Amino acid sequence: MNGNKRYLPLLLLGFSGVLTIFACRSRAISKGNQSNNSGKTATAYRAFHPGSTWYDKAGDTINAHGGGFIFVNGKYYWFGEKRGRHASEGVNVYSSPDLYNWRWEALALAPDSTGASDIANGCLMERPKVIFNQQTGKYVMWFHLELKGQSYKAARAAVAVSNHVTGPYRFVSSFRPNNNMSRDMTLFVDDDGSAYQFYASRENYDLRVTKLSADYLSASPEDRLLFSQHREAPAIFKQNGTYYLVTSGCTGWTPNKATLHTSRSIWGPWQQVEANPLKGPGADSTFGGQSTFFLSVQNKKDAFIFIADRWNPRNLRDSRYLWLPVQFQNGEPFIEWKDEWNLQVFE
Ligand code: GAL
Repeated sequence: MNGNKRYLPLLLLGFSGVLTIFACRSRAISKGNQSNNSGKTATAYRAFHPGSTWYDKAGDTINAHGGGFIFVNGKYYWFGEKRGRHASEGVNVYSSPDLYNWRWEALALAPDSTGASDIANGCLMERPKVIFNQQTGKYVMWFHLELKGQSYKAARAAVAVSNHVTGPYRFVSSFRPNNNMSRDMTLFVDDDGSAYQFYASRENYDLRVTKLSADYLSASPEDRLLFSQHREAPAIFKQNGTYYLVTSGCTGWTPNKATLHTSRSIWGPWQQVEANPLKGPGADSTFGGQSTFFLSVQNKKDAFIFIADRWNPRNLRDSRYLWLPVQFQNGEPFIEWKDEWNLQVFE
């Protein structure tokens, strides 16, 4: 009894602490929370909150970094690096009908626990992108692969394939496209169904592009140097026949200033736009993030979302997502910080 009394203030303090944490978390994610059986908080989002922790429908933090997106049968699918504190744990895939609320679907590609393949446990799988091949009816994933125990030396592209968007994906092969080093990368499918890999090469000094083979499973010999400006983290979209390519500088996990290049042809010439495409406070450090993708919003004209990672190198799993709308002024795209926004900006 006496003992209980002694602990009562401590208990009350602990309880009020828990309440405060819960209140703060509810406020940060705002609106429509519901507890599920596991006691986690599922949130019904109606807006984007760049830089805030983003929970999936089960109440877990979304773990899909360096992401890429594809739209299939009324749903968006978000592929991204599943990270531990530092480890690379494969490629997660989430789905959403509305872009705000995401359901974890699967570990689309797992590292190989038998240890024999290029994607053996301990390898690094970064910046996964998935595209659909109309001719073969298959989903094809490309990602930046680093072999186990070699840090970033291998500099390879890797390919995996599946009959279903959510996988599981079967690892096909890893290689250096046309014998060029390949680190940060993205994929782009053009209007005629041709697909391209944009990749940072020659110790990241070169930004290159290669056209994929017709089945998208390998790089074709068509391959070109776009510019040698020590850029990485390529993200691309096309509007009115112009290609827009955003890249970052090469400072590892630390943010830096983005640049925009434009071209009327994938093969170039690519011109750097003088102005920073990001505007406002924090623009010179890409708002603390690094480009990964431009998501094209369905059923809206010229509606693109700039997607970046705000890396947390002390705990990569907790790196945050920056989603911001691409706006246009006199035909030039720009990206402005917003604490909160929704798809109505595109109306
Ligand atoms: C960045 C790159 C990331 C990751 C990181 C490792 O430059 O964009 O995807 O590879 O380096 O330091």
